[in-house]
Amino acid sequence: MSTLEHLFSPITVRNVTLPNRAVMPPMGTNLAVDSMVTEASLAYIRRQASSGAGLIIIEITAVHPSGCLGGGHLGAFDDRFIPGLRKMAEAIHEAGGKAAMQLHHAGRENLELLKKGKAVGPSAVPSFVYGMAPKEMTREMIHEIVEAFGKAAARAKEAGFDAVEVHGAHGYLLTQFLSGLSNHREDEYGGPFSNRARFVLEVLASVRERVGEDFPVALRLSAEESIKNGYTVEDMKTILPDLVRAGADIIHASIGTHGSPGGITSASPEYETGFNVWRARALKEVVDVPVIAVGRFTDPALADQVIARGDADLVAFGRQQLADPDFLTKAREGRMQDIRKCIACNQGCIERLMLEPEKSVRCAINPETGQELLYPRKPAGTRRNVWIVGAGPAGLTAAYEAKRLGHEVSVFEKEKSPGGNLFYASRAPFKQVYWEWMLWLISQVEKAGVRIQTQTTVTDRMLEDGNPEAVILATGGEKIVPPIAGLDLPFVCDAWQILDERVEPKENAVVVGGGLIGMEAADYLADKGSKVTLVELLDSSPVQKFTSHGYMLHRRLRDHQCRFLFGTELAGIQKNAITVTRDGGEEIIPNVEQVVLAVGMKPRHDLKETLKRKAIPHFVVGDAAGVRRIIEATEEGARAAWDL
Ligand SMILES: Cc1cc2nc3c(=O)[nH]c(=O)nc-3n(C[C@H](O)[C@H](O)[C@H](O)COP(=O)(O)OP(=O)(O)OC[C@H]3O[C@@H](n4cnc5c(N)ncnc54)[C@H](O)[C@@H]3O)c2cc1C
Ligand SMILES: Cc1cc2nc3c(=O)[nH]c(=O)nc-3n(C[C@H](O)[C@H](O)[C@H](O)COP(=O)(O)O)c2cc1C
Repeated sequence: MSTLEHLFSPITVRNVTLPNRAVMPPMGTNLAVDSMVTEASLAYIRRQASSGAGLIIIEITAVHPSGCLGGGHLGAFDDRFIPGLRKMAEAIHEAGGKAAMQLHHAGRENLELLKKGKAVGPSAVPSFVYGMAPKEMTREMIHEIVEAFGKAAARAKEAGFDAVEVHGAHGYLLTQFLSGLSNHREDEYGGPFSNRARFVLEVLASVRERVGEDFPVALRLSAEESIKNGYTVEDMKTILPDLVRAGADIIHASIGTHGSPGGITSASPEYETGFNVWRARALKEVVDVPVIAVGRFTDPALADQVIARGDADLVAFGRQQLADPDFLTKAREGRMQDIRKCIACNQGCIERLMLEPEKSVRCAINPETGQELLYPRKPAGTRRNVWIVGAGPAGLTAAYEAKRLGHEVSVFEKEKSPGGNLFYASRAPFKQVYWEWMLWLISQVEKAGVRIQTQTTVTDRMLEDGNPEAVILATGGEKIVPPIAGLDLPFVCDAWQILDERVEPKENAVVVGGGLIGMEAADYLADKGSKVTLVELLDSSPVQKFTSHGYMLHRRLRDHQCRFLFGTELAGIQKNAITVTRDGGEEIIPNVEQVVLAVGMKPRHDLKETLKRKAIPHFVVGDAAGVRRIIEATEEGARAAWDL
């Protein structure tokens, strides 16, 4: 049983008592249609609320059409939204938590409105991310938006929410006023920090006026902007007491803005769990209202300590909720080892929403999230004898799901141990957390009673003899070996041999291939002290800097002075040298002690033909269907199991 007495103790704010101090912070889902709550939004929030978190703050909810990020995001700028919002509040209440609605205006961080010339902001200063400027808000517009915050708060109250949260963080409209980088106004809303805070003060006052004295109002702030010349925690401390006097009952101490390097708001594994607590503590020093700490919390025990130490009064678990909505239940029951911990890859959640705005929220390691309406909860009608070939992320996710649905599952893996390419994917600096997830998955599959038969290569013959009722082919990909002279020289190896320590790093190494595998091999080598040259055929790295992982990878390689040769093709390998072609000519790179190949992978699915011929129902999933990422592997693995 749980001893997390601090995390699981109640707290009262105004007239509302939260049953515990775990908070689900607001997270956009893109599940709305025309900014209205949908069945998918309700199924999602119901599942998330089942975690038992004391306070569930629903995602950004636009207070005004000029601040809405699109129809996939909720709205509260008209009474027509109230019935749907009421269902959201009810769903949260049914699970026992308290419900808050996040009041939002995107300001200039709104690509669609920027493109149409309709985005607004404190000044006509271009967004760092989108490079386009909004229209400067007139005083009339400012007053209209201030009013809109108040009206939306009143609608939240009418819809049955227990509280509202004003979104003053992450570079949206309120932060744009607070920040000297985006606010160049010369009137009473611009100038010194205290003036730039005026808009936020007016919003709080407007909200308080509409909701009355008993209703809790939280204020989410970025404790610091985390961008060059942005405001700091010390700056924030100077205005915070005034913000509390204006009506903020809870301070939610987030971090970062649009364009903060590496996306620190939803921080990558380079940031340790709970890395942001000290900022909550710093803000707590100047106010006497409860403060919420947030930032890569995955461990309820750590949250309990944070509260026990008095660093914060509540702790928000964002992506951890998405990775495992049962994590608090497991913590209560003392089943800590069963918690599926978020790996902070951002693939299914924040980066999917930001980079693929037509898609809705998912989680790369939890196929249920965002697919609650599809996710089968009852055992399958017909129990099948299913073979799963390959024990990487796709195969093991399929095994977990198939077993959960009552099928008879056999997993075969040709290597000595399960994990597939995830072992290699977790070897570069800061990626150990990926392997921890894989160990969790292996343990859960085994705990469910599935035996993973290692060192067993499934062959055509086995399939013919065993005649399973269905097969999930999760055989991954295989390395591409380029047709180049000199590959057999002893100083040539591949990225996998470096990453699993079969080959020791040498001082002067050339990595051939600048995709993710090559970049990570280079990162690994540089971390071990090698001087790395990276040769890539394309004119730039296929690993984009706008994902948090990509950004961190590029930054580390730059810091290690890795030499990038783009637009360069490996032509031949000689003793301690390589020949490359670039700019139409040939060049010899001398003094090479190690050549590390990472020129990509291709799908491995030879068994498919036998399955077709024998008419055995089958699914090809993950890298075996097309070499991609973890999210595709887990989703396709799960979907195959659901469709058996
Ligand atoms: C260095 C590196 C870094 C990476 N980094 C990332 C990252 O940061 N993010 C990300 O999303 N993705 C990353 N990837 C890609 C990710 O690892 C793959 O997309 C993922 O592992 C695919 O899962 P899978 O289960 O489809 O295949 P795999 O993980 O390849 O597993 C397939 C398994 O099938 C087994 N097998 C094959 N044939 C047979 C057979 N006939 N019988 C029995 N067993 C068989 C194999 O031995 C293997 O264990 C990285 C990959 C590498 C190599
Ligand atoms: C998919 C996703 C959507 C988010 N949407 C919002 C949002 O609507 N409002 C907000 O204030 N923060 C939003 N955030 C930030 C989170 O609330 C949280 O502050 C951040 O993820 C850090 O917490 P974590 O490390 O526990 O995930 C979002 C984060 C994610 C992953």
